[in-house]
Amino acid sequence: MSTSPRSEKPVPGGKTVKVEFDAGIAWVTLNRPEKRNAVNPTMNNEMLPILDALELDDRCGVLVLTGAGESFSAGMDLKEYFREVDREPALKQAQVRRAAYAWMWRRLINYPKPTIAMVNGWCFGGAFTPLVACDLAIAADEAQFGLSEINWGIIPAGNVTRAVAQVMNHRDSLYYIMTGDTFDGKQAAEMGLVNKSVPRAQLRAETEALARKLLQRNPTVLRHAKTAFKVVRDLDWDTSETFLSAMAVSSRASDPERGRQKGMGQFLDEKSYRPGLGPYRRGE
Ligand code: COA
Repeated sequence: MSTSPRSEKPVPGGKTVKVEFDAGIAWVTLNRPEKRNAVNPTMNNEMLPILDALELDDRCGVLVLTGAGESFSAGMDLKEYFREVDREPALKQAQVRRAAYAWMWRRLINYPKPTIAMVNGWCFGGAFTPLVACDLAIAADEAQFGLSEINWGIIPAGNVTRAVAQVMNHRDSLYYIMTGDTFDGKQAAEMGLVNKSVPRAQLRAETEALARKLLQRNPTVLRHAKTAFKVVRDLDWDTSETFLSAMAVSSRASDPERGRQKGMGQFLDEKSYRPGLGPYRRGE
């Protein structure tokens, strides 16, 4: 951990991950550019405590996951995550894999704060898992994606296939799983793998604008809304109705800024904004 120049509060980070704060946004950068940010066991071990720390850190209102240099991430490290670990006993192998799954989907999918993947460049194999696990994603038009596993003789495991099936359709998923062909940011947006794709020169500004938009929204309601969405997808309608009612009550009861009352008051009494066109004023 290093120390923030503006405060004595430590900034989480590690050898392979860099964290920077900027007015409510935590920029979390996979930081092995010389290895195209391939995910190795060190990164896996560093990532989980970083995500835990940011969850409780007021400097993080929105988390952006990106990569250093010309790569988002070249996927799992073939040397350190596969070849070297393949020599270990089965239980050790399972432990190493578990550390990857712990942050790449399990922790990120259930993250209480909004998350955005900013895909700045190469994005292969295992990198699809945290990409899909983030709530939203913006890519550079120039980014290159690929389910390259087939190209070196494995299947997209590590929940990559599950992640792909969550956001891409049947034909596109199987096409890229079976061919290992690459596709660019624009194609990723057309297929629904990312929300949008912009020229690389605009990527950071576009991502920051989206993060700032989320920062204007009520964080308690955001947390309930995204959790509810992810849960009800797998429920039948009756169970979903009950679950959503409970989540609505929980959101209202646990909201310290009483957004529901504020929103109604500013619209119905003050007539100072239109909920159809934007959020209520917070902090009043
Ligand atoms: N695992 C381990 N090392 C990797 C890696 C990975 N997934 N991806 C890149 N690297 C390493 C290379 O071995 C090389 O190391 P070296 O400098 O010690 O030789 C370094 O990163 C740079 O890679 P290089 O291939 O020279 O970069 P490039 O810019 O020409 O190509 C890629 C970038 C991403 C196209 C290419 O590195 C690649 O195909 N990587 C593997 C992608 C993949 O299939 N990932 C799926 C894993 S599930």
